[in-house]
Amino acid sequence: MSKSFDVVVVGGGPGGYIAAIRAAQLGFNVACIDDWKNGKGGPAPGGTCTNVGCIPSKALLQSSEHFEHAGKHFADHGIGLSDLKIDVAKMLGRKDTVVKQNNDGILYLFKKNKVTFFHGRGSFVKAADGGYEIKVAGAAEESVTAKHVIVATGSNPRALPGAPFDEENILSNDGALRIPSVPKKLGLIGAGVIGLEMGSVWRRLGSEVVVLEALPTFLGAVDEQIAKEAAKAFNKQGLKIELGVKIGEVKSGKKGVTVAYANAKGEAQTLEVDKLIVSIGRVPNTIGLNPEAVGLKLDERGAIVVDNDCKTNLPNVWAIGDVVRGPMLAHKAEEEGVAVAERIAGQHGHVNFNTIPWVIYTSPEIAWVGQTEQQLKAAGRAYKAGTFPFTANGRARALGDTTGMVKFLADAKTDEILGVHIVGPMASELISEAVVAMEFKASAEDIARICHAHPSLSEATKEAALAVDKRTLNF
Ligand code: FAD
Ligand code: NAI
Repeated sequence: MSKSFDVVVVGGGPGGYIAAIRAAQLGFNVACIDDWKNGKGGPAPGGTCTNVGCIPSKALLQSSEHFEHAGKHFADHGIGLSDLKIDVAKMLGRKDTVVKQNNDGILYLFKKNKVTFFHGRGSFVKAADGGYEIKVAGAAEESVTAKHVIVATGSNPRALPGAPFDEENILSNDGALRIPSVPKKLGLIGAGVIGLEMGSVWRRLGSEVVVLEALPTFLGAVDEQIAKEAAKAFNKQGLKIELGVKIGEVKSGKKGVTVAYANAKGEAQTLEVDKLIVSIGRVPNTIGLNPEAVGLKLDERGAIVVDNDCKTNLPNVWAIGDVVRGPMLAHKAEEEGVAVAERIAGQHGHVNFNTIPWVIYTSPEIAWVGQTEQQLKAAGRAYKAGTFPFTANGRARALGDTTGMVKFLADAKTDEILGVHIVGPMASELISEAVVAMEFKASAEDIARICHAHPSLSEATKEAALAVDKRTLNF
C-alpha cells in the first residue's frame, strides 16, 4: 500500500532537503526521497553539494591552504618548521568526516522537522487521484503518493566526447576529491570554478598543474578588472592556464593521460599528465525519474522546464536547483526550495536572481554580486566605479595577505549599487554586506557612511564605496 503525503520532494541535495524542511515547518506532511549512498551503502543526504561538491572541496581547500601557509608563510611569522609533509590519506579522511557530519546533520534535521525520509531512487509512475504516484526503489520497493511533488534531482558532470570518466585517470569532481596521492603532473580541462578550485588544491600540495580552457578570455563571467587581478595572482602561484585551446583526442593508459589539443594559434600540442580532471560544466539530471510517465517537459539540454515560480508544465509539480535554468549554485537551489514550499502554502515565496552571490574559493578568493563593468557598458548604463586595494588595508597587512581589491559599481545619477566585485582575502564573507546592501537598494554613499570595525577587511568595502565618490581616506 502506498503512503500518502502532502508534499514529496525527489532529491535530498541543498534544494530538496531545504524545501522539505520548509514545507514541514509550514505544516505539511512531507517526504524526501534521496538515493545517494555512503561508502557502506547507507543514506548520505545532501546531494552533490555535501558529498562531492561544496563541502568536501572546501575541506580540501582548507587543508591545502594550511599546508601552503606552513611551507611558505609561517617563516615570516617567526615560526620554524622542518620536514613538512602532507599525509594525503589523513587529509582525505578528515574531508570524509566533515562530509559525514553534514549527512548526519541532515538526517537529524529530517527527524526534528518530522520529514519522512526514503533512501532510494524515486520515479514517477502515474498521475494519481488529485496527485502523483512515485515508486521508490531502495533496499525495498515502496510507493508513495503526493499532492505536490518538488523535483530537485540536481546535475551530473559533463564528460568530454570520447573520454568517459573512469575516476582513475580521467576524473570528474568525484574522483578529483579523492586522488590518493599528490600527482606529479595534473591536467585540468576547463578553467571554470571547479578547474580553479581543484587546481589550487593539488598545486598547493605540490602538483605541477596545467589548465586548458576553450574560451579566449579568462573567467569571462567575472568583472574584467577582477579577473585580470586573479589571473596575475594564479600566474604568480605557478598555476599554468592556457586559453583558447581546442581539445582533440584524450588517451588514458597505465602511465597516465595524453591530451592532444590545438593551442590558440592553432598549433598541434600534446599534454601528458598523471591525472586529468575534466571540469567543463554540468548537465541537469533526470536519470531514473521517469518524467515521460507523467509528461513532465524537459528542454533540449535535459533541464526541467519551469516558469519564474519554478512551476513545471504539470499541475502541482515543481522543480528547483541544478535541474532547472539558472546558476548551478547550492544557495540558489536552497532559495528556490524555500520559495516553492511557501508558494505551495499560498504564500509569496520570492527569489531575487539579481542578488545571488558568486564565490570562487581560490586564494585569493573571488566573489561578486550584481552586474560587471562590461555588462553595464554593453547595456549603455551610466555608472561610477570605485576601487580600494587590500595593500592599503591594515588588517590585510597584519594577515600577510594584501592581494586584490574591492570594487563598487554604482548608478551615475542615483548612486544605487549595481555590482560589487572582490578579489582578495575572505571575499566569500565580505560579499554578504554587498548582497544585503543591494537587497535594500542601498547607495554607495549608504555603505560609505556606515561605521566598519577597525582593523577589519570590511573597511576595504567601505573605502571602495567612498572611492565611488573619489574620497577614499586611506588610499
Ligand atoms: P544536488 O545537490 O545534485 O542533489 C540532488 C540529489 O538528488 C542527489 O543526492 C541525487 O543523488 C538525488 N537524486 C537524483 N535523482 C534522484 C531520483 N530519481 N530519486 C532520488 N534521488 C535522486 N555551489 C555553491 O553554491 N558553492 C560551492 O562552493 C560549490 N562548490 C561545488 C564544488 C563542486 C566540486 C561541485 C561539483 C559543485 C559545487 N557547487 C557549489 C554546486 C552545488 O553543488 C550545486 O549547485 C548544488 O548541489 C545543487 O543542488 P540540488 O539540490 O539542485 O542538487
Ligand atoms: P564552469 O561552467 O564553471 O566552467 C567550465 C569551463 O570549461 C568554462 O570556462 C568553459 O569555457 C570550459 N570548457 C567547456 N568545454 C570545454 C572544452 N571542450 N575544452 C576546454 N574547456 C571547456 O563549470 P565547472 O567548473 O565544471 O563547474 C560546474 C558548476 O558547478 C559551476 O558552473 C558552478 O555553478 C558549480 N560550482 C560552484 C562552485 C562555487 O560556487 N564555488 C565551485 C564548483 C562548482
